[in-house]
Amino acid sequence: MSSSNLCESPGCNLPAKLQCPTCRQLGIQGSFFCSQECFKGNWKTHKIIHALAKGEAVDGKKENGYNPWPHYNFTGELRPFPQTPIRTVPDRIPRPDYADHPKGFPLSEQAVKGSSQIKILDDEEIEGMRVSCKLGREVLDEAARVCDVGVTTDEIDRIVHEACLERDCYPSPMNYYQFPASCCTSVNEVICHGIPDTRPLKDGDLCNVDITVYHNGFHGDLNETFFVGNVSEKHKNLVKVTHECLMKAIEMVKPGEKYREIGNVIQKHAQANGYSVVRSYCGHGIHRLFHTAPNVPHYAKNRAVGVMKPGHCFTIEPMISMGTWKDEMWPDKWTAVTADGQFSAQFEHTLLVTETGCDILTKRRNETGLPHFMDKM
Ligand code: MF3
Ligand code: CO
Ligand code: CO
Repeated sequence: MSSSNLCESPGCNLPAKLQCPTCRQLGIQGSFFCSQECFKGNWKTHKIIHALAKGEAVDGKKENGYNPWPHYNFTGELRPFPQTPIRTVPDRIPRPDYADHPKGFPLSEQAVKGSSQIKILDDEEIEGMRVSCKLGREVLDEAARVCDVGVTTDEIDRIVHEACLERDCYPSPMNYYQFPASCCTSVNEVICHGIPDTRPLKDGDLCNVDITVYHNGFHGDLNETFFVGNVSEKHKNLVKVTHECLMKAIEMVKPGEKYREIGNVIQKHAQANGYSVVRSYCGHGIHRLFHTAPNVPHYAKNRAVGVMKPGHCFTIEPMISMGTWKDEMWPDKWTAVTADGQFSAQFEHTLLVTETGCDILTKRRNETGLPHFMDKM
């Protein structure tokens, strides 16, 4: 990608590899220059974009609020806030391959890309998955405790990061294809892959926190959507139905079932309640690799490959929207939002196919086993 950038100094247009460090920190896309000379020569005009992004006054105009993408048309009301620098993981904690790849490429995952072969885990590997998923659950429960009005998603990310380290876990999202945080926080119209930032959560928000941990060579992946303060009845119902979609899908998991049937059950329930199913993001196989075969679409009449067998591990993680199923991406290339700006919700579990059905490896381990939002219904 960066090989195709051209120098932004007017009239230069030479290939450019140097990115303005301030722009990078502020989350401003582009701002590549061919040389220090061109960068310095343009400093007077270039620095105005920093002021605009930070929302500072420029040329006597009044301040505007942080906006790193002045030309982007937002689909809804949510806006990005400044991010904090990526956190660090001590050397004692084992890391997946992409943690140290300059572009965050998961080479072990890419080596088997395109194959639809689904790994059957042996007893030792199954035990590895049980432990990672249990630890992932503990981390999500910590996030649930702090998620509240006035708390920033960056603060949730900090709690998640520290909870991972306390459990000798690497936070799997960190540097995965250069994802810049330790978990995903997806608020309101954000479907998934939201980047934690310094926006304080507001009364009535929906906030999904998606946790994946890497421990002893295995990933465990789960997410829940939380209520922030007093949520409207219509948004409460969206969250309730989304959770029902996941649980109905889990009920059908057993040896011999086709992966493509999952989407039929989910879409039927979503549609019966007047909601739509996101199509761009799917469930996935998970074990030593974060994302691998099988691919698990959540929509009906899909052509997913594969039949469930004992020893398969995979996620189901339906994203259900109030209005359109269509999504688009913010210019940060991560944040997926609904194309109409209406709210979307999601729940995710990691599952192990057993002889008779499945184990929910990421299940909540309290008296009720119910998701956190139900404590507030
Ligand atoms: N946890 C997400 C999933 O359910 C993936 C996040 S990848 C990241 O598959 F890079 F965005 F963190
Ligand atoms: Co997942
Ligand atoms: Co996840």
